[in-house]
Amino acid sequence: MEKGVDLEERRPIYEPKIVAFCCNWCSYAGADLAGTTRLQYPTNVRIVRVMCSGRVDPAFVLKAFSLGADGVLVAGCHPSDCHYINGNEKAAMRGTFLSEFLEDAGLEPQRFKVEWIAGSEGQKFANIVKQMVAELEALGPIAEGCA
Ligand code: FES
Repeated sequence: MEKGVDLEERRPIYEPKIVAFCCNWCSYAGADLAGTTRLQYPTNVRIVRVMCSGRVDPAFVLKAFSLGADGVLVAGCHPSDCHYINGNEKAAMRGTFLSEFLEDAGLEPQRFKVEWIAGSEGQKFANIVKQMVAELEALGPIAEGCA
């Protein structure tokens, strides 16, 4: 069986691509824990490690979409756990702004998420990726003319 092709429909299977910006201290460690404990989650995610979720410039998110991402996740430490005091609060504020901006540009809200994942929450990371992939598969590719 050929990988990535629906043989009955004779068309490629839609495999959404997710770019996940994960902060070094918590959410990246959570993603790493998911891997080292062999938790099952889809391989659709590409992780970009940043020192803090507050480092994620909105332009990074827009660039990810413009380069073909179907969804973008910004993940950081839980509130009050940020190693740079309040970077995650800044990420949350930017996330609110970005969500509205992306919706105005025609993207469905499920395509962009800001989440807090601790280093001990490998299962949470896996669950977020699974849920996001399921939502993106239901949505299908981004319509032309958006983003
Ligand atoms: Fe994790 Fe700032 S260090 S969000």
